[in-house]
Order: sequence, then structure tokens, then C-alpha cells
Amino acid sequence: MDLSVVGLLMLVLVGHGVGHPGQLVPDPCPEASCKKGGPAIRFPFMLKEKQSDNCSYPGFELSCDGKETVLQLPNSVKLYVNKIDYASQLIFAADPDKCLPKQLRSFNLSTSPFQFGDKQQDDYAFFNCTSWKGDTYQKLACLSGPGYDIFAYRSDYLISYTDLTSCTKIYNLSSVPVEVMRQENILNLTWSMQACGVCEAQGKFCRWKNISTRLETECYDRPKSNEGIRKKIAAAVATVGSFLLLLVFFAAYRVYSSDKAAKENQKRIENFLADYKAFKPTRYTYADIKRITNEFKDKLGQGAYRTVFKGQLSDEISVAVKILNNSTGNGEEFVNEVGTMGKIHHVNVIRLVGYCADGFRRALVYDYLSNESLEKFISSEHGDATALSWEKLQDIALCMAKGIEYLHQGCDQRILHF
Ligand SMILES: *[C@@H]1O[C@H](CO)[C@@H](O)[C@H](O)[C@H]1NC(C)=O
Ligand SMILES: *[C@@H]1O[C@H](CO)[C@@H](O)[C@H](O)[C@H]1NC(C)=O
Ligand SMILES: *[C@@H]1O[C@H](CO)[C@@H](O)[C@H](O)[C@H]1NC(C)=O
Ligand SMILES: *[C@@H]1O[C@H](CO)[C@@H](O)[C@H](O)[C@H]1NC(C)=O
Ligand SMILES: *[C@@H]1O[C@H](CO)[C@@H](O)[C@H](O)[C@H]1NC(C)=O
Ligand SMILES: *[C@@H]1O[C@H](CO)[C@@H](O)[C@H](O)[C@H]1NC(C)=O
Repeated sequence: MDLSVVGLLMLVLVGHGVGHPGQLVPDPCPEASCKKGGPAIRFPFMLKEKQSDNCSYPGFELSCDGKETVLQLPNSVKLYVNKIDYASQLIFAADPDKCLPKQLRSFNLSTSPFQFGDKQQDDYAFFNCTSWKGDTYQKLACLSGPGYDIFAYRSDYLISYTDLTSCTKIYNLSSVPVEVMRQENILNLTWSMQACGVCEAQGKFCRWKNISTRLETECYDRPKSNEGIRKKIAAAVATVGSFLLLLVFFAAYRVYSSDKAAKENQKRIENFLADYKAFKPTRYTYADIKRITNEFKDKLGQGAYRTVFKGQLSDEISVAVKILNNSTGNGEEFVNEVGTMGKIHHVNVIRLVGYCADGFRRALVYDYLSNESLEKFISSEHGDATALSWEKLQDIALCMAKGIEYLHQGCDQRILHF
């Protein structure tokens, strides 16, 4: 063995050898879990079968259902816990029947220590429809049955746009986390216990200062295992070995990944340009939007609900990127609207090049028109109305009329523009 490796091994051994005074008393609330690799359960939680009731904070009792970790909430709401993030104080939960909307009516967190993690909440109206010919993106498949479908609309959605003659309203729910309606079967819940979150974020654990009184919590160092010297040597050798191996892999990976990232980026740019030529709106990520607008450098205009920036799709293609600020709504409604706008092609109607619906971030990407707004020429505040000749004005009016005529009558999906 190389001398330096032996030196390193000694160091690791010394590091492992330092004893821990706190280890003499056995931990009354050792960490537990329902299955190997399942969520680790420790303070403020406890596992009913494996720990004493005094180990947890009131209301933080978990149990096992086979290998699943179960959180029981008021009104017999039962959730499976997939992950617990102690530092951010978040539980990632799921419905055992993969139908969170079904449990929503029974949800009442007012007497539990948890709150919805998703702060984006809306009121919804639920409909039972026997025959349905419209959009289906609001359909709750897991609540629907043979011969009827259940739909949920945001309460402020303009129902008059939708034909509901075959539907009956069955109930309303308020303050529903939007993530539940996305039907991904993930619900995150938070709890507040600031001191313990800070503890965990520092790499420590949290516990009752005195388990008999259960009044105050304290931070303590994570327990280290006291195995025999043989295990330590094995661990040290493994550490050194894996460290060297890691170095080799890391170097190889660096070379490989930088090459791969460059290729992927190139491919994405080619796809954007292909979409552009095919007159198809492209879906961009928020990171793309940032890149296109060069980190929102060049602002073209600002309205109450939107801000417009200039962007560059490629060296030749300039775009105007409209960032929408009031994106509280359903992302799918937005994507649907974009679908309609994407089908419009007329020389006198500005072309939608792409859009972004990345979480709550919404943006529309249009062709950039270099001659600026007509407003600049016709309003006396901004400019000189006489700069345009009568022939030019007639020409503009005629072109606009043709564009509006197309929207109202010429295209597949007629559009009314106010
Ligand atoms: C748990 O709390 C109860 C009531 O305060 C007490 O009688 C019991 O001894 C405690 N158990 C442990 C293990 O501290
Ligand atoms: C939730 O439960 C509390 C206490 O039982 C009750 O006062 C409250 O009205 C309930 N809220 C809803 C929305 O049912
Ligand atoms: C929906 O309506 C159908 C037919 O009227 C009925 O059989 C069904 O039970 C209803 N479902 C719900 C969840 O209300
Ligand atoms: C749902 O709320 C609306 C108002 O937002 C109300 O008009 C309607 O009667 C409510 N429906 C039910 C079933 O509670
Ligand atoms: C909550 O869950 C959603 C998935 O529904 C996830 O996208 C989101 O990032 C989660 N929130 C936090 C704070 O982790
Ligand atoms: C915990 O509290 C009990 C009751 O006040 C007290 O008798 C006991 O000594 C305390 N234990 C520690 C370790 O402070």
C-alpha cells in the first residue's frame, strides 16, 4: 500500500475513533421506519408500533400499513407518506387509492398541526355530467363512473362559455390546493416548529429536552454508531478506495457531460427553429425565456398584467416576449388558449411563435415588429400624426380590417376580439 494512503487511513481511523459522551444513555426514541429505505421517522414524528407515545409532538403520530407509512388526519382522511423533509418541514403525501380529489370533501386541517404546502389555492365547483362534448382537461377521471363524468371548474371560471346543460352542480369546495387538481397524486403538507427546522438544517436532530415534561425542545448531534474496530477499518478502506474511484469517474464524467450538454443545447435550438419554420408555437421553459430575453434586459413596454421584453431566437429572428403577471389560474386553460392562438395565421395578425407555462410562470412569445406601435404615430401625446400620409392611413385601416375579418369569420375557431 502506498504510504500516503496509509496516512489517510490513519486520519480516517482517528476521526472515527473519537468517542461521543452523549452515547452512554440509550436514546429512548430511536429513529424508525416502516420499511428499509422508507421515510425515516423521528421527532417531531413517531411511529406508533415502534416508539413510545412520549416521543412525538401531539398530532404527529404515524403508523405502518404493510410497508407504507400512514398519516391519519381528522375525518378519517388517510394518506401515505412518501417523504419527510425535516429541514423544510414538508411531508410529501399521496392518496392510497390514487384519488386525492375524492378525499378533499373530508379534509379539515383546522384541528391538525398541518397546513397545505401549496399556497396556490382556489375555490372549485364540482359538476356531474351525463353527456359531455367539450374539453376534458377539467375532468376528474377517478371520481367519474359509468355513464357520468365529474368535472371541477374554478369558481371564477366563466361557466357561460361552457355548455353545462347535461350537468348538475353537486358541491363547492373552497381553498383547494391547485396541485391536487393536477391529479398527480402528490400533496405536500407543512408544519411549523421553527426551532426544529433550524436544528435539522444545521445537520442536527431535534428532541424533547425532558421527555417526562415535554415542554421544550433542543438540538443534539446525530448519534454515531459504536461498532468494533474491524468495521472502522473496513469503512476507512472503503472510504479511501471509493474516493479514488470517484476521482477517476468524476474526471471521466466531466469530459463526457460537457460534451453532452453542448450537444443537447444544439438539438433544442434546432427544434425551436424547426417549429418556427413550421408555424407551430413552441413550448419554452422559463430558463429558455430567460435565455431568449438575455435575462430580461431590453424592456419594450409595461402593462397592468404583463411586461414585454425584446428577445432573440436566433441571430436573424427577433421576438417580443410578453410575461404575464397574474397567472393564478389553471395552467391547462392557458395551454388551451395558446392552442387556439397558435392556429391563427394571417399576414395582418401578429404571429404567436411560442409560449411558456412553467409552473406559475406564463409567457407568450410573438414575432417582433420593428416599426413600433401605431399608437406612437396617431396619439398627439407621443408623436406627429401628420407623419403618416392619408394613403398610408387608409392602407393601415384596410389591413387591420382584413385581419379582424379573418379572426371573426375566416378562421376555424372564430375569435371575438374586444
Ligand atoms: C410518558 O409520559 C407519561 C405521562 O407523562 C409518563 O407516565 C411515562 O413515564 C412517560 N414514558 C417515558 C418512557 O418517559
Ligand atoms: C373543521 O373542523 C372545525 C372543528 O371541528 C370546525 O369548527 C370547522 O367548521 C370545520 N371546517 C370545515 C370547513 O368543515
Ligand atoms: C352522477 O349522476 C349520475 C346519474 O344521474 C348518478 O348515477 C351518479 O351517482 C352521480 N354521481 C355523483 C358522484 O353524484
Ligand atoms: C356554490 O357556490 C355558488 C357561489 O359561488 C352558489 O351560487 C352555489 O349555490 C353553490 N352551490 C352549492 C351546491 O353549494
Ligand atoms: C409540492 O408538490 C408539488 C407537486 O404537486 C411540487 O411540484 C412542489 O415543488 C412541492 N412544493 C414544495 C415546496 O416542495
Ligand atoms: C425532567 O422533569 C422531571 C419533572 O419535572 C424532573 O423530575 C427530572 O429531573 C427532569 N429530567 C431531566 C433530565 O432534567
